[in-house]
Parts: sequence; structure tokens; C-alpha cells
Amino acid sequence: MEGELALCKAADVEEGCALRVALDGHAPFAVYRSDGEYYVSEDTCTHGEASLSEGVVEDGQVECPWHSGRFCLKTGSALTFPAIVPIRVYPVSIKDGTVCIRPEADT
Ligand code: FES
Repeated sequence: MEGELALCKAADVEEGCALRVALDGHAPFAVYRSDGEYYVSEDTCTHGEASLSEGVVEDGQVECPWHSGRFCLKTGSALTFPAIVPIRVYPVSIKDGTVCIRPEADT
């Protein structure tokens, strides 16, 4: 579909893990798999400069590796202090085994 961006192979993201994807012209993304679902957010934590793809992924949430702020992977909401500002999340589709997003889509 027009405007879609292919990020990685779905099989490259292990359950309960995240993968950092850096593409030219875009801030890095984090691709997550939690309970069989795929999620994508901006990779940089809104509290500091931590890479969220290095955080702990469980129960549809990611815990930042630096100060343990937690975010909802579905909505991007900041759930626990010191995370206050939501992360941007993107609608995800799996096309032919590839994780795709529409980076310009409103979320
Ligand atoms: S950098 Fe993520 S909670 Fe501080």
C-alpha cells in the first residue's frame, strides 16, 4: 500500500523481545512482539535517550532499560514514572511475513 514502510521480517522479532530498525530518513523504530502481537514505536524513550528496543517487553508493555519507565505498546501511553510523555506508536500490518507501518498515519 502506498505510504507503507517495510521494517523487518516478522520472524526476526522473537516473542517477548524487540528489534531496533534504522532506515534512512526516519528516526529509529522499535519493533516488538508480545503475546504473539507485533507493535512498533519510536525507539527513543521520551524521558531520556534510551533505546526502548533494549528494554523489557512483556504483557503488551515495554520497560525502558535506563529508568524503568513503562509504556503501553498499543497506545504509547506512559504508564509508570519517570515516563510521563507518551511514545509515538504506529499501526502495524504483516505483509508476506514483513512488518510494515504507515509512518505518516495518525495514531
Ligand atoms: S530514559 Fe527511559 S525512563 Fe528514563
